Amino acid sequence: MQVCNSIAEVRQARHLARRDHKTVGLVPTMGALHEGHLALVRAAKAQCDLVVVSIFVNPLQFGPSEDLAKYPRDFERDRELLQREGVDFIFAPGVEEMYPAGAITYVTVEGLSDKLCGRSRPGHFRGVTTVVSKLFNIVEPDKAFFGQKDAAQSTIIRRMVRDLNIPVGVVIYPIVREPDGLAMSSRNAYLDAQQRKSALVLSRSLIAVQERFNHGERRVSALIEAGKRAFEQEPPVRLDYFEIVDPETLDPVADSSRGGLVAVAAFVGKARLIDNVLLGRTT
Ligand code: PAJ
Repeated sequence: MQVCNSIAEVRQARHLARRDHKTVGLVPTMGALHEGHLALVRAAKAQCDLVVVSIFVNPLQFGPSEDLAKYPRDFERDRELLQREGVDFIFAPGVEEMYPAGAITYVTVEGLSDKLCGRSRPGHFRGVTTVVSKLFNIVEPDKAFFGQKDAAQSTIIRRMVRDLNIPVGVVIYPIVREPDGLAMSSRNAYLDAQQRKSALVLSRSLIAVQERFNHGERRVSALIEAGKRAFEQEPPVRLDYFEIVDPETLDPVADSSRGGLVAVAAFVGKARLIDNVLLGRTT
């Protein structure tokens, strides 16, 4: 496994892969890796000849009062995990390498970037789409792997790839959960034992909605009410949003008879956690 800190090194590796007719899969991450990330890596290994995992805590997607400085970082641990998975390249650039002084170009998916997390985190998705398009231009992957855990991010990236004709196949992998249902997240590391228990309310609220839906409930207001009710039993958890949206437009659906994306975000202590479930689908 080769660790590349510069864009030039990755480009060279990409050049050799193309010469050898090898396909390249990219798994973009911010490190602090867990089984959710590793599931994406395994999917990439299964579908591509060579796998590049990028590790970059992207300052552009953090708001001024967010957790950029505190975001968990442990490169040695990440490196060992990826080595064990048989990853070929880690791309771990510094901030100056990705954003040299004077960079003033951004990629924005208008009309989607201000929905769901984009509403409570202004500029967040602009940061994500800018860094992901840079990674696509640097690595030129045949396929790139993202998690359904970040549902709005996945929708926005698929839309960016379509609208800008970026020659990459986007693969979205289902949410990987802890045995008790908590969606895996690097931010779970912020939780103490009590908060870890409280955090289960996110997945519990989604199960409540899913159950009502499976029993035939299609009124969006009743489904949302069932989800929000779970939060009434966990007062320390502060709900940010609980919505049922169209998974393509991220707009609230008036009627759930054709399914929908149930998305939730909540603060548990200082950690802002998200989770979601697709109604009427198997993933
Ligand atoms: P990060 O939060 O590190 O997540 C990297 C990838 O892992 C994302 O595609 C995310 O959806 C996926 N992922 C995280 N938890 C998961 C889980 N429990 N199950 C399945 N997949 C999971 O998302 C980002 O980084 C950044 O925004 C990034 C795309 C790297 C751009 O900076």
